[in-house]
Amino acid sequence: MKKTGKDRKRYERVAKFYDIFEFPMEVFAFSEWRKSLIKNVEGSNILEVGIGTGKNIPYYRNWYAVGLDISEKMLKKAVKRSKSVRKKIDFVLGDAEFLPFRDHSFDGIISTCVFCSVENPENGLKELFRVLKPGGRAYFLEHVRSENDTVGKIMDALNPVIRAVGPEINRRTVDTIRKTGFRILKDVHLMSSIFRMVVAEKPATSAS
Ligand SMILES: C[S@@+](CC[C@H](N)C(=O)[O-])C[C@H]1O[C@@H](n2cnc3c(N)ncnc32)[C@H](O)[C@@H]1O
Repeated sequence: MKKTGKDRKRYERVAKFYDIFEFPMEVFAFSEWRKSLIKNVEGSNILEVGIGTGKNIPYYRNWYAVGLDISEKMLKKAVKRSKSVRKKIDFVLGDAEFLPFRDHSFDGIISTCVFCSVENPENGLKELFRVLKPGGRAYFLEHVRSENDTVGKIMDALNPVIRAVGPEINRRTVDTIRKTGFRILKDVHLMSSIFRMVVAEKPATSAS
C-alpha cells in the first residue's frame, strides 16, 4: 500500500471533523441515498471500499462484511460506529488501487463518495472488478462532473481550487466504471447530476 498518497494524508487530516463537515449533506440527502442504494445489495459476502467513518454501516444487513480504507483515522471511527450499532465487520487498512484480496472474493461491493478521491480511479475500479465474483454487483454513490453543461463548466473551473484541499469534483466516474468492463444496470442522476447512484454488474462470462 502506498504510504505517502495525497488521498491518505488528506483524510488523516480531516478524519476528526469529517462527520461534522458532512452533517448538513447527510441530513439533507445522503442518508436517504445511502438507504436506497444499500437496500438493493445482493449477496452475503460484501466489501465496502473507502468505508470512511462508516456512514453506511447502520444500513448493512446480516452479511459477512469487510470494510477497507486507506486512512487509519477514518477506519478507527468506522470501528467505533460498528460497535455502537452492533455490526460485526472485518476492517482492513488498504488501498483501493491494490486490494489485498484474491480474484472473485466478493458477491457485492459498496463504494460511496470514494472515486472522486482515489488518486488513479481507473486502477481502483479495475481492482474492484477483479475481486468481484462474475455476476456480482458493485453499488456506487459518486460525486461526478455534472451532465448539465453550465454546471459542468463551473465544476471544471472550481476543480483546481477544490482539489488543493479535497476531492476532484469533475471526474466522469460513470464512464470509467463502464470502461472497466462493468455493465451499468442502474444510473440515477441526483442534484443536477452532480451525484450518481449506480449499480454495475461484472458480466457472468467475465474471465478476469
Ligand atoms: C469522501 S470520503 C467517503 C467516506 C464514506 N464512503 C462515506 O460515504 O461517507 C472518501 C473516503 O475514501 C477513502 N479513500 C481515498 N482514497 C482511497 C484509496 N485509494 N483506497 C481506499 N480508500 C480511499 C478516504 O480515506 C475516505 O475515507
